[in-house]
Amino acid sequence: MADRTPIIQLSGVSLTLESGAGPVNILKNISFSISRGETVGIIGPSGSGKSSLMSLMTGLEQASDGDVDVDGLAFSGADEDELARHRLARVGIVMQAFHLIPTMTALENVAVPLELAGVNDAFDRAAKELDAVGLGHRMDHYPAQLSGGEQQRVALARALVSEPPILFGDEPTGNLDSATGRTIIDLLFDLAKRRGTTLVLVTHDAKLADRCDRVISMRDGKIVDDTGNTATVGETDSSDLKLGKSK
Ligand SMILES: Nc1ncnc2c1ncn2[C@@H]1O[C@H](COP(=O)(O)OP(=O)(O)O)[C@@H](O)[C@H]1O
Ligand SMILES: [Mg+2]
Repeated sequence: MADRTPIIQLSGVSLTLESGAGPVNILKNISFSISRGETVGIIGPSGSGKSSLMSLMTGLEQASDGDVDVDGLAFSGADEDELARHRLARVGIVMQAFHLIPTMTALENVAVPLELAGVNDAFDRAAKELDAVGLGHRMDHYPAQLSGGEQQRVALARALVSEPPILFGDEPTGNLDSATGRTIIDLLFDLAKRRGTTLVLVTHDAKLADRCDRVISMRDGKIVDDTGNTATVGETDSSDLKLGKSK
């Protein structure tokens, strides 16, 4: 259950990127707040800015304007090192592509983030996490020896092994057939719920988003609907969010 303490806060956020044809305004004045433990689906047509919004929330991209605050870190004041450390410890990410390292076994892939963080029992913890996603019997297999669904389980184990308070998924079932995708999503919701992980799930699948506590809809770089907070829709008064922040 969400405990109403904000863990992700965006306030008046815009993203403008340079392209050959000049600057492109990709995200426009976005404000919302996500509570600790909440599960949030972000939906919208292709090109509406879902992945860009996720890049801002994971700190892979810096906002051109406005404030992004995640689990106590204000991104605008953070340097690359701080952002990288923040991602390693506080954030898990699963994407459509599995992004596993082909020359490493499942176990080694899952242990990587822990080893980078200097954790001593990285392999023990990685093994436990692979067990949790039902892959205890495939630990020594290389990605090429695993099915797509199994590879995504490894990616999920890698995302969760540091026990991050937030899990981001960007179309995590996009490369899987629907039955396998459903299994992955069940697992993702189950693990997030059991650990109280805040889940932010980007998807173009409205049915999938409906499994979340709350659905944020995007179009043309703007939020057009938010079932969790009607105050953030349309012309947002960002002072509402600032008030929330000071609690
Ligand atoms: N690096 C970039 N430079 C210029 N435009 C980009 C860049 N990345 C994405 N875009 C544009 O931003 C818009 C939103 O893209 P994206 O966030 O990937 O949408 P979604 O994930 O909803 O499909 C699209 O019009 C896309 O073409
Ligand atoms: Mg996308």
